[in-house]
Amino acid sequence: MKNDLSNIKKAKYYLDKKECIGIPTETVYGLAANAYSNLATSKIFKLKRRPKYNPLIVHYSNLNDLKKDCEINQNFMKLYKEFCPGPLTFVLKLKKNSKISKYVTNNKSTLAVRFPMHPLTKSLLKILSYPLAAPSANITTKISPVSKDDVKEEFGKKIKFILDGGRSKVGLESTIISLINKPKIMRLGGTEIEKINKIFKREIKLDNKNKKKITPGQGKLHYSPGIPIRLNKNKSAPDEAFILIKKRKLSDKNYFYLSKSQNLNEAARNLYKILRMIKKKKYKKIVVEKIPNKGLGKTINDRLVRASKK
Ligand code: TXA
Ligand code: MG
Repeated sequence: MKNDLSNIKKAKYYLDKKECIGIPTETVYGLAANAYSNLATSKIFKLKRRPKYNPLIVHYSNLNDLKKDCEINQNFMKLYKEFCPGPLTFVLKLKKNSKISKYVTNNKSTLAVRFPMHPLTKSLLKILSYPLAAPSANITTKISPVSKDDVKEEFGKKIKFILDGGRSKVGLESTIISLINKPKIMRLGGTEIEKINKIFKREIKLDNKNKKKITPGQGKLHYSPGIPIRLNKNKSAPDEAFILIKKRKLSDKNYFYLSKSQNLNEAARNLYKILRMIKKKKYKKIVVEKIPNKGLGKTINDRLVRASKK
Protein backbone atom coordinates (compact mmCIF):
# COMPACT_ATOMS: atom_id res chain seq x y z
CA MET A 1 0.00 0.00 0.00
CA LYS A 2 2.73 2.43 1.03
CA ASN A 3 4.60 1.49 -2.09
CA ASP A 4 1.51 2.03 -4.23
CA LEU A 5 1.10 5.50 -2.81
CA SER A 6 4.67 6.53 -3.57
CA ASN A 7 4.35 5.07 -7.07
CA ILE A 8 1.14 7.01 -7.68
CA LYS A 9 2.98 10.17 -6.62
CA LYS A 10 5.82 9.33 -8.98
CA ALA A 11 3.31 8.83 -11.79
CA LYS A 12 1.83 12.26 -11.06
CA TYR A 13 5.31 13.80 -11.05
CA TYR A 14 6.04 12.64 -14.60
CA LEU A 15 2.54 13.43 -15.89
CA ASP A 16 2.72 16.97 -14.46
CA LYS A 17 5.98 17.36 -16.37
CA LYS A 18 4.06 16.50 -19.58
CA GLU A 19 5.70 13.11 -19.96
CA CYS A 20 4.00 9.87 -21.11
CA ILE A 21 3.88 6.97 -18.67
CA GLY A 22 2.44 3.45 -18.61
CA ILE A 23 -0.71 2.99 -16.51
CA PRO A 24 -2.61 -0.16 -15.57
CA THR A 25 -6.27 -0.50 -16.44
CA GLU A 26 -8.59 -3.47 -16.10
CA THR A 27 -8.67 -3.84 -19.89
CA VAL A 28 -5.07 -3.34 -21.07
CA TYR A 29 -2.21 -1.03 -20.04
CA GLY A 30 -2.40 2.51 -21.39
CA LEU A 31 0.23 4.98 -22.57
CA ALA A 32 -1.01 8.01 -20.65
CA ALA A 33 -0.48 11.77 -20.86
CA ASN A 34 -2.22 15.00 -19.83
CA ALA A 35 -5.22 15.21 -22.19
CA TYR A 36 -5.26 19.03 -21.96
CA SER A 37 -1.70 19.42 -23.20
CA ASN A 38 -0.64 19.52 -26.87
CA LEU A 39 2.94 18.78 -25.91
CA ALA A 40 2.12 15.79 -23.70
CA THR A 41 -0.34 14.21 -26.13
CA SER A 42 1.90 14.73 -29.15
CA LYS A 43 4.44 12.51 -27.38
CA ILE A 44 1.92 9.64 -27.31
CA PHE A 45 1.64 9.66 -31.11
CA LYS A 46 5.40 9.77 -31.53
CA LEU A 47 6.11 6.94 -29.11
CA LYS A 48 3.38 4.67 -30.45
CA ARG A 49 4.11 5.59 -34.07
CA ARG A 50 0.40 6.24 -34.29
CA PRO A 51 -1.07 8.08 -37.28
CA LYS A 52 -2.31 11.54 -36.26
CA TYR A 53 -5.80 10.91 -37.67
CA ASN A 54 -6.47 8.21 -35.06
CA PRO A 55 -8.05 9.89 -32.00
CA LEU A 56 -7.37 8.91 -28.37
CA ILE A 57 -9.60 7.78 -25.51
CA VAL A 58 -9.67 10.09 -22.49
CA HIS A 59 -9.90 8.63 -18.97
CA TYR A 60 -11.82 10.24 -16.08
CA SER A 61 -12.44 9.38 -12.44
CA ASN A 62 -15.78 11.17 -12.06
CA LEU A 63 -18.78 12.53 -13.87
CA ASN A 64 -18.24 16.19 -12.94
CA ASP A 65 -14.87 16.29 -14.63
CA LEU A 66 -16.28 14.60 -17.72
CA LYS A 67 -19.05 17.20 -17.95
CA LYS A 68 -16.43 19.94 -18.36
CA ASP A 69 -15.42 18.37 -21.68
CA CYS A 70 -18.48 16.56 -23.09
CA GLU A 71 -22.21 16.82 -23.59
CA ILE A 72 -23.92 13.90 -21.89
CA ASN A 73 -27.35 12.49 -22.69
CA GLN A 74 -29.91 10.00 -21.36
CA ASN A 75 -28.42 7.03 -23.15
CA PHE A 76 -25.08 7.84 -21.61
CA MET A 77 -26.57 7.99 -18.09
CA LYS A 78 -28.28 4.62 -18.51
CA LEU A 79 -25.00 2.96 -19.46
CA TYR A 80 -22.93 4.93 -16.97
CA LYS A 81 -25.08 3.75 -14.07
CA GLU A 82 -24.77 0.15 -15.10
CA PHE A 83 -21.20 -0.19 -16.33
CA CYS A 84 -18.97 2.52 -14.87
CA PRO A 85 -16.28 2.30 -13.81
CA GLY A 86 -15.53 -0.51 -16.26
CA PRO A 87 -14.48 -1.60 -19.75
CA LEU A 88 -16.84 0.64 -21.74
CA THR A 89 -15.89 3.71 -23.81
CA PHE A 90 -18.43 6.32 -24.94
CA VAL A 91 -18.15 8.57 -27.96
CA LEU A 92 -19.80 11.88 -27.02
CA LYS A 93 -20.03 15.44 -28.30
CA LEU A 94 -17.07 17.56 -27.31
CA LYS A 95 -17.98 20.86 -25.61
CA LYS A 96 -16.82 23.99 -27.43
CA ASN A 97 -15.08 25.35 -24.34
CA SER A 98 -13.39 22.06 -23.47
CA LYS A 99 -9.64 22.17 -22.80
CA ILE A 100 -8.99 18.82 -24.50
CA SER A 101 -5.97 19.04 -26.81
CA LYS A 102 -6.78 19.13 -30.53
CA TYR A 103 -4.37 16.22 -31.01
CA VAL A 104 -6.57 13.97 -28.88
CA THR A 105 -9.58 14.38 -31.17
CA ASN A 106 -7.72 15.10 -34.41
CA ASN A 107 -9.64 18.40 -34.45
CA LYS A 108 -12.99 16.60 -34.55
CA SER A 109 -16.08 17.50 -32.52
CA THR A 110 -16.44 14.15 -30.75
CA LEU A 111 -14.53 12.65 -27.84
CA ALA A 112 -14.11 9.04 -26.70
CA VAL A 113 -14.18 8.78 -22.90
CA ARG A 114 -14.04 6.11 -20.27
CA PHE A 115 -13.95 5.50 -16.50
CA PRO A 116 -11.35 2.83 -15.77
CA MET A 117 -11.86 0.49 -12.84
CA HIS A 118 -8.28 -0.29 -11.82
CA PRO A 119 -7.77 1.00 -8.24
CA LEU A 120 -4.29 2.49 -8.85
CA THR A 121 -5.38 4.39 -11.94
CA LYS A 122 -8.54 5.56 -10.18
CA SER A 123 -6.42 6.92 -7.33
CA LEU A 124 -4.03 8.54 -9.77
CA LEU A 125 -6.83 10.26 -11.71
CA LYS A 126 -8.25 11.63 -8.46
CA ILE A 127 -5.09 13.59 -7.62
CA LEU A 128 -4.55 15.03 -11.12
CA SER A 129 -5.95 18.35 -12.29
CA TYR A 130 -6.55 16.99 -15.81
CA PRO A 131 -7.91 13.79 -17.39
CA LEU A 132 -5.58 11.27 -19.06
CA ALA A 133 -5.48 10.52 -22.76
CA ALA A 134 -4.36 6.92 -23.07
CA PRO A 135 -4.32 4.55 -26.00
CA SER A 136 -3.17 0.98 -25.43
CA ALA A 137 0.54 1.01 -24.57
CA ASN A 138 1.80 -0.83 -27.62
CA ILE A 139 3.48 0.20 -30.85
CA THR A 140 0.67 0.73 -33.42
CA THR A 141 -0.65 -2.58 -34.91
CA LYS A 142 1.12 -4.71 -32.29
CA ILE A 143 -0.43 -6.72 -29.45
CA SER A 144 -1.83 -4.69 -26.55
CA PRO A 145 0.04 -5.03 -23.24
CA VAL A 146 -1.56 -6.64 -20.20
CA SER A 147 1.31 -6.27 -17.72
CA LYS A 148 4.10 -3.90 -16.80
CA ASP A 149 6.64 -6.19 -18.49
CA ASP A 150 4.66 -6.12 -21.75
CA VAL A 151 4.79 -2.31 -21.74
CA LYS A 152 8.52 -2.45 -21.10
CA GLU A 153 8.88 -4.82 -24.02
CA GLU A 154 7.13 -2.32 -26.31
CA PHE A 155 8.93 0.88 -25.31
CA GLY A 156 12.04 -0.06 -23.31
CA LYS A 157 13.78 3.02 -21.95
CA LYS A 158 11.73 5.37 -24.13
CA ILE A 159 9.19 5.81 -21.35
CA LYS A 160 10.26 7.11 -17.98
CA PHE A 161 7.82 5.29 -15.73
CA ILE A 162 5.26 2.48 -15.67
CA LEU A 163 2.79 2.25 -12.81
CA ASP A 164 2.71 -1.46 -11.94
CA GLY A 165 -0.82 -2.67 -11.28
CA GLY A 166 -0.35 -6.40 -11.95
CA ARG A 167 -2.05 -8.32 -14.76
CA SER A 168 -5.04 -6.64 -16.43
CA LYS A 169 -8.18 -8.46 -15.26
CA VAL A 170 -10.26 -8.18 -18.44
CA GLY A 171 -7.35 -8.55 -20.84
CA LEU A 172 -9.03 -7.02 -23.93
CA GLU A 173 -9.68 -3.37 -24.80
CA SER A 174 -12.91 -1.63 -23.83
CA THR A 175 -16.08 -1.87 -25.88
CA ILE A 176 -16.69 1.43 -27.72
CA ILE A 177 -20.22 2.76 -28.16
CA SER A 178 -21.06 5.95 -30.02
CA LEU A 179 -23.89 7.95 -28.44
CA ILE A 180 -23.75 10.84 -30.87
CA ASN A 181 -26.94 9.81 -32.69
CA LYS A 182 -28.53 6.41 -32.32
CA PRO A 183 -26.27 4.21 -30.16
CA LYS A 184 -23.82 2.19 -32.28
CA ILE A 185 -21.08 -0.20 -31.25
CA MET A 186 -17.81 0.94 -32.81
CA ARG A 187 -15.57 -1.74 -31.33
CA LEU A 188 -16.29 -5.01 -29.57
CA GLY A 189 -14.49 -5.20 -26.25
CA GLY A 190 -14.55 -6.04 -22.56
CA THR A 191 -18.24 -5.22 -21.97
CA GLU A 192 -20.48 -7.90 -23.47
CA ILE A 193 -22.78 -6.66 -26.21
CA GLU A 194 -25.62 -8.79 -24.80
CA LYS A 195 -25.52 -6.75 -21.57
CA ILE A 196 -25.70 -3.46 -23.48
CA ASN A 197 -28.64 -4.72 -25.54
CA LYS A 198 -30.43 -5.59 -22.32
CA ILE A 199 -30.20 -2.00 -21.09
CA PHE A 200 -31.69 -0.64 -24.32
CA LYS A 201 -34.10 -3.58 -24.67
CA ARG A 202 -33.08 -3.96 -28.31
CA GLU A 203 -30.14 -4.99 -30.41
CA ILE A 204 -27.59 -2.20 -30.84
CA LYS A 205 -26.04 -2.11 -34.29
CA LEU A 206 -22.42 -3.00 -34.74
CA ASP A 207 -20.69 -0.48 -36.96
CA ASN A 208 -17.04 -1.41 -36.78
CA LYS A 209 -16.19 -1.44 -40.46
CA ASN A 210 -13.37 0.88 -41.24
CA LYS A 211 -15.22 2.93 -43.86
CA LYS A 212 -13.50 6.17 -43.20
CA LYS A 213 -10.20 6.50 -41.51
CA ILE A 214 -11.68 7.86 -38.29
CA THR A 215 -12.42 4.65 -36.45
CA PRO A 216 -9.21 2.79 -36.72
CA GLY A 217 -8.19 0.28 -34.10
CA GLN A 218 -10.32 -1.43 -36.65
CA GLY A 219 -7.74 -1.49 -39.37
CA LYS A 220 -6.15 -4.54 -40.87
CA LEU A 221 -3.15 -5.94 -39.09
CA HIS A 222 -4.39 -4.70 -35.77
CA TYR A 223 -3.54 -6.72 -32.67
CA SER A 224 -1.12 -8.59 -34.87
CA PRO A 225 1.50 -10.98 -33.56
CA GLY A 226 3.05 -10.66 -37.03
CA ILE A 227 2.64 -14.32 -38.01
CA PRO A 228 -0.12 -16.14 -39.96
CA ILE A 229 -3.15 -17.35 -37.99
CA ARG A 230 -5.65 -20.03 -39.09
CA LEU A 231 -8.99 -20.04 -37.28
CA ASN A 232 -11.64 -22.65 -36.38
CA LYS A 233 -9.38 -25.66 -36.77
CA ASN A 234 -9.32 -28.97 -34.95
CA LYS A 235 -5.77 -30.04 -35.53
CA SER A 236 -2.36 -28.48 -35.69
CA ALA A 237 0.98 -29.43 -37.16
CA PRO A 238 3.83 -29.78 -34.64
CA ASP A 239 5.51 -26.58 -35.82
CA GLU A 240 2.32 -24.53 -35.31
CA ALA A 241 1.27 -23.00 -32.00
CA PHE A 242 -2.19 -24.41 -31.24
CA ILE A 243 -4.53 -22.16 -29.21
CA LEU A 244 -7.24 -24.07 -27.35
CA ILE A 245 -10.26 -23.22 -25.22
CA LYS A 246 -11.06 -26.58 -23.64
CA LYS A 247 -8.98 -29.39 -22.22
CA ARG A 248 -7.93 -32.24 -24.51
CA LYS A 249 -7.20 -35.75 -23.36
CA LEU A 250 -3.70 -35.70 -24.72
CA SER A 251 -1.53 -32.62 -24.63
CA ASP A 252 1.46 -31.49 -26.63
CA LYS A 253 4.08 -28.86 -26.14
CA ASN A 254 2.68 -26.69 -28.91
CA TYR A 255 -0.70 -26.42 -27.08
CA PHE A 256 -1.61 -23.10 -25.49
CA TYR A 257 -4.76 -22.98 -23.38
CA LEU A 258 -6.83 -19.79 -23.23
CA SER A 259 -9.01 -21.76 -20.83
CA LYS A 260 -9.41 -25.44 -20.05
CA SER A 261 -13.15 -25.19 -19.47
CA GLN A 262 -14.42 -22.86 -22.25
CA ASN A 263 -14.58 -20.02 -19.72
CA LEU A 264 -14.70 -17.03 -22.06
CA ASN A 265 -13.74 -14.42 -19.45
CA GLU A 266 -10.68 -16.43 -18.55
CA ALA A 267 -9.91 -16.87 -22.25
CA ALA A 268 -10.14 -13.11 -22.83
CA ARG A 269 -7.78 -12.48 -19.93
CA ASN A 270 -5.22 -14.87 -21.41
CA LEU A 271 -5.46 -14.02 -25.12
CA TYR A 272 -2.86 -11.26 -25.48
CA LYS A 273 -0.54 -12.86 -22.95
CA ILE A 274 -0.55 -16.09 -24.94
CA LEU A 275 -0.14 -14.39 -28.33
CA ARG A 276 2.90 -12.57 -26.93
CA MET A 277 4.30 -15.81 -25.50
CA ILE A 278 3.86 -17.66 -28.81
CA LYS A 279 5.72 -14.92 -30.60
CA LYS A 280 8.58 -15.11 -28.07
CA LYS A 281 8.83 -18.84 -28.56
CA LYS A 282 9.44 -18.05 -32.24
CA TYR A 283 6.55 -20.02 -33.69
CA LYS A 284 5.99 -19.06 -37.32
CA LYS A 285 2.31 -20.07 -37.49
CA ILE A 286 -0.73 -20.12 -35.22
CA VAL A 287 -3.82 -22.33 -35.36
CA VAL A 288 -6.89 -21.63 -33.23
CA GLU A 289 -9.69 -23.95 -32.14
CA LYS A 290 -13.26 -22.72 -32.71
CA ILE A 291 -14.22 -20.24 -30.00
CA PRO A 292 -17.94 -19.88 -29.07
CA ASN A 293 -19.24 -16.65 -30.59
CA LYS A 294 -21.03 -15.23 -27.54
CA GLY A 295 -20.12 -12.91 -24.66
CA LEU A 296 -16.42 -12.10 -24.68
CA GLY A 297 -15.98 -14.92 -27.22
CA LYS A 298 -17.27 -12.39 -29.79
CA THR A 299 -14.50 -9.98 -28.89
CA ILE A 300 -11.87 -12.74 -28.92
CA ASN A 301 -13.02 -13.81 -32.39
CA ASP A 302 -13.00 -10.20 -33.59
CA ARG A 303 -9.39 -9.76 -32.47
CA LEU A 304 -8.29 -13.08 -33.94
CA VAL A 305 -9.90 -12.33 -37.30
CA ARG A 306 -8.15 -8.96 -37.44
CA ALA A 307 -4.88 -10.50 -36.34
CA SER A 308 -5.20 -13.16 -39.05
CA LYS A 309 -5.55 -10.63 -41.89
CA LYS A 310 -2.45 -10.18 -43.98
O1 TXA B 1 -9.48 -0.42 -23.06
C1 TXA B 1 -9.17 0.55 -23.72
O2 TXA B 1 -10.00 1.21 -24.37
C2 TXA B 1 -7.68 0.95 -23.72
C3 TXA B 1 -7.31 1.41 -22.30
C4 TXA B 1 -5.90 1.90 -22.19
O3 TXA B 1 -8.23 2.38 -21.88
N1 TXA B 1 -7.44 1.97 -24.69
C5 TXA B 1 -7.47 1.73 -26.02
O4 TXA B 1 -7.10 2.81 -26.78
O5 TXA B 1 -7.75 0.66 -26.50
P1 TXA B 1 -6.70 2.72 -28.34
O6 TXA B 1 -6.23 4.06 -28.71
O7 TXA B 1 -5.74 1.60 -28.50
O8 TXA B 1 -8.04 2.45 -29.05
C6 TXA B 1 -8.99 3.49 -29.05
C7 TXA B 1 -9.90 3.38 -30.22
C8 TXA B 1 -9.20 3.65 -31.52
O9 TXA B 1 -9.58 2.65 -32.41
C9 TXA B 1 -9.75 5.01 -31.95
O10 TXA B 1 -9.85 5.12 -33.32
C10 TXA B 1 -11.11 5.00 -31.30
O11 TXA B 1 -10.90 4.37 -30.08
N2 TXA B 1 -11.59 6.35 -31.06
C11 TXA B 1 -11.02 7.31 -30.30
N3 TXA B 1 -11.72 8.46 -30.34
C12 TXA B 1 -12.77 8.24 -31.14
C13 TXA B 1 -13.87 9.03 -31.58
N4 TXA B 1 -14.03 10.29 -31.20
N5 TXA B 1 -14.76 8.45 -32.40
C14 TXA B 1 -14.63 7.16 -32.80
N6 TXA B 1 -13.61 6.36 -32.41
C15 TXA B 1 -12.70 6.89 -31.59
MG1 MG C 1 -4.83 -0.02 -29.34
